[in-house]
Amino acid sequence: MTALAAPTSAPDPGQGLGKTGIPRHVAIIMDGNGRWAHARALPRIAGHKQGVEAVRRVARAARDIGIDVLTLYAFSSENWRRPAEEVGDLMGLLRLFLKNEVDDLIRENVRLRVIGDYRALSDDLVRMIDTAIVRTADNSGPRLVIALNYGAQAEIAAAARHLAREVEQGSRAADTIDEAAIEGALATRDLPPLDLLIRTSGEQRLSNFLLWQAAYAELAFVDTLWPDFDEATLRGAVADFGRRQRRFGGL
Ligand code: FPP
Repeated sequence: MTALAAPTSAPDPGQGLGKTGIPRHVAIIMDGNGRWAHARALPRIAGHKQGVEAVRRVARAARDIGIDVLTLYAFSSENWRRPAEEVGDLMGLLRLFLKNEVDDLIRENVRLRVIGDYRALSDDLVRMIDTAIVRTADNSGPRLVIALNYGAQAEIAAAARHLAREVEQGSRAADTIDEAAIEGALATRDLPPLDLLIRTSGEQRLSNFLLWQAAYAELAFVDTLWPDFDEATLRGAVADFGRRQRRFGGL
C-alpha cells in the first residue's frame, strides 16, 4: 500500500496556544440581548445597549487574561432581515461605540480590525471604521476584531473567487489550491488560528460565523445572556478550554 503524504497544511497540535494554555484567539457569538431586555419588559434596544457594555467589559477582560485576539460577531450578513428600526438602532450603537471607544483602544494599545463586508454600511460608518483601523494600526497589543455584515459562506466564496481570478490571470496553477491557499485568502489570514469559539444564551449553532476557522476550534455554549457576560464567565470558558484535550485529528 502506498503511504499517503501528510498534507503540508495540516494543523499543528498546540498551534495558536500560548505556553500557558490560554487560547490565543477567542471568538464570541454574542447572543441573547433581546431576551435580556424581554425578561425586564424593556425594548430590545435596551438589551443591545447593555450588550455594548458587555463588549467593553469583555474586551478588557480578554486583554487581562492574555488573549491575543478577540473576534466578536456584532452584525451578520443575515441581520439585515431584522426590522429596519432595530438595524438602525444597532448601527447607531456601533456609531457611538466607534465615537467613544477608539481613544481608549489607542490608550490600551489595542489594534482594531473588522471582518465582513463593512463597506456596505452607511458612508459615515465606513469612514469611522476606516479611521479607527488606521488610528489603531500601529498598536502592538491585543487585537479586537469586529465582524460586521459578516457571513462565513460569503467569506469562503470571496476567497474562491480571489483564487479563481489568480488562476485566470495565470499567476497560479489550479493544483496549488489547497487548504493553506484558501486560508490565505480569507479575511482572517493574518490572525492566529481560532482556538475557542463561545456562543452565549444557550443556543447551540454557529450561525454562519467563522465556519472554516472553526474546523479545529473548541466550542463552548454558555447559558449566560450576552448582556450578563463578564470577566468571570470568560475566565470560566478559558479554564474549561484549558482542560480540553485537543487532538487535531491525531491520537
Ligand atoms: C444578538 O442578540 C445580538 C446581536 C444581533 C447584536 C450584537 C450587537 C451588540 C452587542 C451591540 C453592538 C456591538 C458593538 C461592537 C458596538 P439578539 O438580539 O439576537 O438576542 P435574542 O436572540 O435574545 O433576541
